[in-house]
Amino acid sequence: MTTVLSPRDLLACWEEQQSAYVAHRENRFEIMLDVLRLHSPAEPTVLDLACGPGSIADRVLGRLPGSRVVATDYDPVLTRLAETVLGEYGERATVIDADLAEPGWSRHFATWRFDAVLTSTALHWLSPRQLLGVYTELAAILPPGAILLNADHLRFGPEHPTLTEVSARHDEQVQRAAFAAGARTWQEWWAMAAQTPELAERVAERERRFADRPPQPLSPLAFHLAALRTAGFAEVGTVWQYLDDYVVFARR
Ligand SMILES: C[S@@+](CC[C@H](N)C(=O)[O-])C[C@H]1O[C@@H](n2cnc3c(N)ncnc32)[C@H](O)[C@@H]1O
Repeated sequence: MTTVLSPRDLLACWEEQQSAYVAHRENRFEIMLDVLRLHSPAEPTVLDLACGPGSIADRVLGRLPGSRVVATDYDPVLTRLAETVLGEYGERATVIDADLAEPGWSRHFATWRFDAVLTSTALHWLSPRQLLGVYTELAAILPPGAILLNADHLRFGPEHPTLTEVSARHDEQVQRAAFAAGARTWQEWWAMAAQTPELAERVAERERRFADRPPQPLSPLAFHLAALRTAGFAEVGTVWQYLDDYVVFARR
């Protein structure tokens, strides 16, 4: 028997699934929202970069009543889900289809004035060259004072064998516990999404778009910090870390 979930329930399962891979995912969101709240205008305009089904956007819109969010992703299944879920917020939410790997992607956002760009568990899909390109285009569209917060696993390099091993063991234990408690794996979540009629029609297009995108070499923290400075960000650092999981901060 197949289970067809409502968009909200599918998002809830996504949150559970992602939390199996990112042990302290909620803490990351918490610090991102705190920095946003403490630095930006009370009613900020936020870009949720590589939004997936809209996890960051949903939290910003839900917790900051006057905020507006533009959520963007290249996955046609996830943008459809994001459009449906974020549709609850009416005109405060906009979803835009864009490929961050394509130079010039930021033209889709040229008419917006963002106070902040928030992104999670996503930029590791880009090569170091593409990542520098994304930071450079962001620096060009962001006004002075706007901030970027990037939450992601930034794996330790060969100079840190102990920390690499401890982080891998920690990931393994967290995943085992989460799946034993009923969280779906990435593959199981996608199998379930494909059963949802309004998403199923976009699965083939998703496969076409991501067919030739092999996993990228992971960029360490030092690369992110240097790339952000090179791109033109003024103040660069970290606001949170748990083993190899970080929230990187940059101010334009
Ligand atoms: C693991 S998901 C994270 C989604 C969400 N930010 C979260 O934390 O739940 C990674 C996201 O990056 C998106 N992504 C990967 N490559 C991309 C690209 N070139 N342009 C835009 N989005 C991309 C994927 O489609 C996916 O939605």
